Amino acid sequence: MRIAILGTGALAVALGSGWTRAGHDVVIGGRSFERADAAAKASGARARPLTEVAADAEAVLLSVRWEGVTGMLTAVGAHNGSLAGKPLIDPTNAVDHGIGVLRTESGRAAAHRVAEFAPGAHVVKAFHLFPSTHWNVPSPSAAVVAMCGDDRRALAVVGSLVRDIGGTPAVIGGLDRARQLEEVAGFVIALAFAGIDPRSAVPTAPLRSP
Ligand SMILES: NC(=O)c1ccc[n+]([C@@H]2O[C@H](COP(=O)([O-])OP(=O)(O)OC[C@H]3O[C@@H](n4cnc5c(N)ncnc54)[C@H](OP(=O)(O)O)[C@@H]3O)[C@@H](O)[C@H]2O)c1
Repeated sequence: MRIAILGTGALAVALGSGWTRAGHDVVIGGRSFERADAAAKASGARARPLTEVAADAEAVLLSVRWEGVTGMLTAVGAHNGSLAGKPLIDPTNAVDHGIGVLRTESGRAAAHRVAEFAPGAHVVKAFHLFPSTHWNVPSPSAAVVAMCGDDRRALAVVGSLVRDIGGTPAVIGGLDRARQLEEVAGFVIALAFAGIDPRSAVPTAPLRSP
């Protein structure tokens, strides 16, 4: 699959490395071409200028800090429909680090903002919960990647990208569930920074067949 990664940081390198290892054709773009080139070299991918990085992509990962989301989407022309029809993975955490409070307005998700700035793109909230270091090894330990989105084909594409790096996808619903998924990240971050293992704060629930 041709995958475009927007952003040059830790998550871009971790997922880019995993997907190139899985045989995908990964290109990386950032507001600095030098940093994009460094991220590409670190992950076995190729760097591309922002104006062309997503042009022929079959999936796009928006791997920038929350403050940079609208700037990045504007830089690739998403506001003018350049990502229309493409699966657009949103792993962003608009969360006060160390506190875990969401910075988005009440009831709204970061993923909704992404969808607004990328008309026609099939936004899938995913990869926001596990730290980049989880994916940084060739055979990561088991991880269920909870995700949501409105387009079935985009969910299937992202699900296959999860499996390609050793995870198991779990679709919890449409993009209207994105706020809930983002709150989970805030919950995990709040407990982790309080020195509590977040897994110890979740009960073992009886499993039901789907
Ligand atoms: N790292 C993780 O463990 C992890 C896990 C799950 C989800 N996430 C989420 O994934 C996203 C990327 O995380 P990361 O750790 O890879 O971040 P990072 O290492 O800090 O890199 C962030 C990227 O965002 C860009 N950026 C930052 N501020 C910007 C702005 N104002 N305008 C435009 N671009 C800006 C940076 O560009 P420059 O290099 O030009 O500054 C860089 O390409 C974040 O939303 C984060 O919440 C991260």
